[in-house]
Amino acid sequence: MNPADRATELRKVLEHHAYRYYVLDDPEISDSEYDLLFNELVALEQAHPELQVDNSPTARVGGPPVKSFQSYAHRVPMLSLDNAFGEQELRDFDERIRKLLGRDDVSYFVELKFDGASISLTYVDGRLVSAATRGDGTTGELVTENARTIRGVPFELQDDLGGTVEVRGEVMMLRSVFAELNEARSERGDQVFANPRNAAAGGLRQLDSSLTAKRKLNFYAYGTGFTESPLASAQSELNARLKRAGFPVYAMQTKATGIDQLIEFVHKVQAARAELPFGIDGVVIKVDSVADQETLGFTSRGPRWAIAYKFPSEQAFTKLNRIFCQVGRTGNVTPVADLEPVYVGGVTVSRATLHNFDEVLRKDLREGDTVIVQRAGDVIPEVVGPVLEKRPEEAPLPEPPKECPVCTTALVRRDGEIALKCPNKACPAQIASRLQHFVSRKMLDIEGLGDKLIERLLQDGFLTDIPSIFRLHSRRAELSELDGLGEKSIDKLLANIENAKKPTLARFVFALGIPEVGESGARDLAIEFRTLNALRSAPYERLVAVDNVGPRTAGELVEWWQDEENRQLVDSLLELGVAPVEQAEPTGDAFLDKIFVFTGKLEQFTREAAEEAVRNLGGRAAGSVSKATSFVVAGPNAGSKLAKAEQLGVTVLTEQEFLDMLPENAI
Ligand code: IVH
Repeated sequence: MNPADRATELRKVLEHHAYRYYVLDDPEISDSEYDLLFNELVALEQAHPELQVDNSPTARVGGPPVKSFQSYAHRVPMLSLDNAFGEQELRDFDERIRKLLGRDDVSYFVELKFDGASISLTYVDGRLVSAATRGDGTTGELVTENARTIRGVPFELQDDLGGTVEVRGEVMMLRSVFAELNEARSERGDQVFANPRNAAAGGLRQLDSSLTAKRKLNFYAYGTGFTESPLASAQSELNARLKRAGFPVYAMQTKATGIDQLIEFVHKVQAARAELPFGIDGVVIKVDSVADQETLGFTSRGPRWAIAYKFPSEQAFTKLNRIFCQVGRTGNVTPVADLEPVYVGGVTVSRATLHNFDEVLRKDLREGDTVIVQRAGDVIPEVVGPVLEKRPEEAPLPEPPKECPVCTTALVRRDGEIALKCPNKACPAQIASRLQHFVSRKMLDIEGLGDKLIERLLQDGFLTDIPSIFRLHSRRAELSELDGLGEKSIDKLLANIENAKKPTLARFVFALGIPEVGESGARDLAIEFRTLNALRSAPYERLVAVDNVGPRTAGELVEWWQDEENRQLVDSLLELGVAPVEQAEPTGDAFLDKIFVFTGKLEQFTREAAEEAVRNLGGRAAGSVSKATSFVVAGPNAGSKLAKAEQLGVTVLTEQEFLDMLPENAI
């Protein structure tokens, strides 16, 4: 084949595979196979410069820089949307629409509100000819070369959509790309991106398109501007048509009849938000019918037929008042940000861990800084970084402490570890935190013995170490002399302590606070060794063979049991009547090698009980869905895990179907 024909063929094949990957989310070849074809085309075009064309997939790596952007007059203005906050404002919108249309049966189309930068792509006879930013809505900047580097922007359409059309959508940076680029930036000592939106918007406006290419941006379509002829009679049809033409249209969208269906979908999106591959700041609700849209028309701000329902922001600015240090259970000294309280991600945040002092230096945080705080989903709040322009003039570099802020012992740093450590095991902060850990919900679960009471009982000498919890009953009379502790609550507390003496072996092992031994590690250790005696004498080789126990954890376990103090602690507990329940043998093997994922709001059983039942039958319970998952059990309001299961073709069960698979009394 001559080079010109081969180049044409390669372009066609590469565009086809890009379409399979970005639009259909169903690739036919691996990334490396794609790279091979791509590199062949790059080599061919380099050897034969006359074969280079604008619309070659190789343009996706960027071209020569320009001095400035030309302006571009949008044929149809790029308007913005009115916002609704809270369900009531959504109901008000629905009422307004029904009144204006003079009827009640209105269908809506609900899409994600992508959190990036909007772009308008112009196609003539199915070929990409230009791309422009929104600008002020009337005039934007021409960023065609940059757009060619964006994943999912088709160069040639599979359906030419008739003459000249403007297709609109959002340019975004995926969370995974954001994390990867920021890690590389921070390793190089470069300023990190504040958030994916800034990184995308900035990337779109690079004068050198090869820099845009390096940001690995993605495009999703949500509508059109100018079209020569109408493309669809409803938004739902338009999106489907855009998808057929070759544009990525995100699958999480729906038609809703009536406000209740609409709100139900909004909740579904909200539940899935944290697990989406990119950031969203809400959903966009559009009246579905184009005829209705025309009746409703526009205000100067935007369409009357659409509204943006905004979710609570996941990022906010606030002041970093102070950096103080906390001493943890194992003596690790952790810097913590004391923040001016700020509402973010649906909760008020006033503290955030800064993990360690390397992190404080890496993020370049100073007391008095204005900082960006982030809280996505149920994730713990995080300080993203400072706003350098707002830094007060005399903000000194924070200094790592030399001694323990609680017991003043000189801090140490173990070889190869980042954390500063207080080596004093009798440090009051460590004792308090060990006690708090021991009695917490997932360990011995002693209700009524909260953090405040523990601290008070430590101060007054009632508690000195973990075993002292089980000696409290002998000091019943003295306890009732304490202010604020009623007779009834003392009785309740002592009863709860008594009842906590028979934890499962897994809980007991987790509660001991052995470094590196988490909930799942403790559970697998219990399943493997069954009794405390077997576990405490287990050699390294047997420990390291257990699921969820790596070499490091096995080493920590051996070291922990060698320490005389730890052995004494366990012996004292046993003497005081604490008796971990032997782990039962599995009752069957019906689920051998089967992996279950439970998701949604389970109504017929708790997640813990269901997972226990699965393990009892030889199966495994996992937290995320993959190709290896055997079953996903979905309750109401299941979000992205259910979607993933459907996408991967994993069998989905209702709660009842799961119960039907179990032998009697298994749960
Ligand atoms: S439709 C006539 N749909 O939100 C207005 N916009 O506040 C048409 N956006 O600048 C906008 N996701 O960049 C629409 N699914 C979506 C969207 C979306 C994000 C952005 C868009 C626009 C802004 C409007």
